[in-house]
Amino acid sequence: MHIDVETLPDNPVTLPETLGFGRHFTTRMFTRRYDRERGWHDARIEAYRPLTLDPAATVYHNGQMIFDGTKAYRRPDGDINLFRPDCNAERFNASARRMGMPEVDVDEHVAAITELVRLEHRWVPGGDGTALYIRPVMIATEKTLEVRASREYLHYIILSPVAPYFAAGFAPVAVYVAADYVRAVRGGTGEAKTPGNYAGSIAATELALARGCQQVLWLDGVERRWVDEVGAMNIAFVRNGREIITPVLTGAILHGVTRRSLLQLAPDLGFPAQERRISIEEVLDGLASGHITEVFGMGTGAVLAPVGRLVYQDREITVGDGQPGPVARRLHAELTGLQTGRRPDPYGWTRRIAVSG
Ligand SMILES: Cc1ncc(COP(=O)(O)O)c(C=O)c1O
Repeated sequence: MHIDVETLPDNPVTLPETLGFGRHFTTRMFTRRYDRERGWHDARIEAYRPLTLDPAATVYHNGQMIFDGTKAYRRPDGDINLFRPDCNAERFNASARRMGMPEVDVDEHVAAITELVRLEHRWVPGGDGTALYIRPVMIATEKTLEVRASREYLHYIILSPVAPYFAAGFAPVAVYVAADYVRAVRGGTGEAKTPGNYAGSIAATELALARGCQQVLWLDGVERRWVDEVGAMNIAFVRNGREIITPVLTGAILHGVTRRSLLQLAPDLGFPAQERRISIEEVLDGLASGHITEVFGMGTGAVLAPVGRLVYQDREITVGDGQPGPVARRLHAELTGLQTGRRPDPYGWTRRIAVSG
């Protein structure tokens, strides 16, 4: 793939004092177009600018759109680490298949990310918990109201310097268990990273916020009994201070890269990890008896977010003493250390982009 790079002034970058999450964007973006005759073509890195789309573009009507999210981290030596960008590219393709969209070549997608991050390296912040969030997107652009696969697409990548997903950083979050709404069913689109899943979650998120919670915990769509995941994270429970349990992938749950990494890392640190179904009753009983000692979310945005409190119907349940537990602390330190190059990476998960010296 040849990428046409627009020449832009190399202005110095002043990072905003308060980064937040996904509020500021860098000056360049990657774009590439698809049609049936030419396949993917016209790859460019150009100035970040508004998109111009026909009001009849099918993305606005049928919602044929996917996205993903990964991060670039500043290393102590000034270089930059990408974390498992190939896993995100493969998930982008899995989402594309589910939504009837064309796949991208994994190596080309990772090359586009690498080149864009290299050009925008001054935007990678260096503070604790910060990163450059990478947001690849694909939208259906054909002008048609027919309900069928679009014949034209736009693939683009934008970058945002971010603080940790939750403003308080590595502090416990409160989670609202959705009792009236469901996010996904098997055979639906729950496993794809497509905006409809998130749009359908917003009413429940408003209920969660009204109850003082930051995230929604979704139960399965059929029995409303089995724990699926939280709004932007997979979920895990710690039994007896050691064993980790995370819901098994059912097709309704996002296959998280952080989840997948922690499932491999945790046993190597002495925490056996199990993927299985876990019901909300088992969670509530385990918290009441003290057998479940910790709960935490896992996702690119927060990396690992300890859960301090659960709200389920009219009940409020504190997890342990409400503070981050030792397993969450250890895993968070190990994984963020590996991602940022502060600790060794025996798994070969990081890809270094040399920008210093
Ligand atoms: C619904 C949902 N589940 C889980 C995750 C965690 O996935 P990952 O660890 O790949 O970021 C995310 C975030 O991408 C998400 O949006």
